[in-house]
Amino acid sequence: MAEQNVYILAIESSCDETSAAVVRDGKVLSNIIATQKVHERYGGVVPELASRAHMQNIWPVVDAAITDAGISKNDITAVAFTQSPGLLGSLLVGACFAKGFAQALSLPLIAVHHMQAHVLAHFIDDQPEFPFLCLTVSGGHTQIVLCRDHLDMEVLGETIDDAAGEAFDKVAKMLGLPYPGGPLVDKYAKEGDPLRFKFPMSEMKDYEFSFSGIKTSVLYFLQAQRKADPEFVEKNIKDICASVQYTIIKMLMTKLEKAAKQLDIKHVGIAGGVSANSGLRKAIKEAGEKNGWKVYIPRFEYCTDNAAMIGVTGYYKFLKCSFADMTVSPSARATWQ
Ligand code: KG4
Ligand code: ZN
Repeated sequence: MAEQNVYILAIESSCDETSAAVVRDGKVLSNIIATQKVHERYGGVVPELASRAHMQNIWPVVDAAITDAGISKNDITAVAFTQSPGLLGSLLVGACFAKGFAQALSLPLIAVHHMQAHVLAHFIDDQPEFPFLCLTVSGGHTQIVLCRDHLDMEVLGETIDDAAGEAFDKVAKMLGLPYPGGPLVDKYAKEGDPLRFKFPMSEMKDYEFSFSGIKTSVLYFLQAQRKADPEFVEKNIKDICASVQYTIIKMLMTKLEKAAKQLDIKHVGIAGGVSANSGLRKAIKEAGEKNGWKVYIPRFEYCTDNAAMIGVTGYYKFLKCSFADMTVSPSARATWQ
């Protein structure tokens, strides 16, 4: 595509990362992420503290994104922000900032769906062919998404209860690990035996998932084991992490393979925070070799929450003139657009 010099300033504030990026013609010029450490000691995200931290971070993060991109704010063509889903107080900070910025510089405003942006993170470094099948696994969602075009997506199935990331984090908490525990479970799992302990896999219909069962079974398992040996977790943490991770990945990959086979799709990817998991990255590569897929895995910095993916989505929406008006307001839970 010819150079258009469309500069999108993107803002992401749906959970506990305050992020801003500048994207030119779909290419990322800067991507600044301020991760909020304040939640660590509480074992999970505290919504009010997240909103306050976004309030403190948002201007320095946006300023750094503009400076890092080597542009001035007068070069910006449009402002994109995460409208939904997420923590309402957190979303409000990003939305209000984006509106004020757009209004001050008379720029168009673009509202972005966070889960659509996770899928479009694949288009930052790559160009998957359509139809493209994406397993989006984050702290709040687990979805199999059929993409017919950049903005034409359908959720084929999702979790009916907990998300895969939530299962990682809750198991980590039971093991006494700090929030977010997913990356730590991944770290321990690398040195553990995935077949040492057996946990049940949920049998769900179609492309649905359920992760509340594994959480409960790990809880009861640990209670029983700790009764017999109070140091059971300390002695076996690597094997526990490897076995839990193995079970979660098996549930995810079984459904992804089923969907790809039934729909006869050969371009398949993973997205969202849990796509940073080394076991899942390895599993999709192996499934790709077995099934003849072209596999897409985002770079680490584009797996977990980031504004670059909001900027790329904003760019595709800009090309379709899909703008929001100044009455737009964020929503904690919004249907797929
Ligand atoms: O996409 P994301 O940053 O935020 C949401 O939209 O929810 O995903 C965060 C989730 C957390 O549950 C975190 O524990 C998980 O992604 N996560 C991981 C890994 N890195 C992040 N889970 C397993 N292994 C990892 N390496
Ligand atoms: Zn996310």
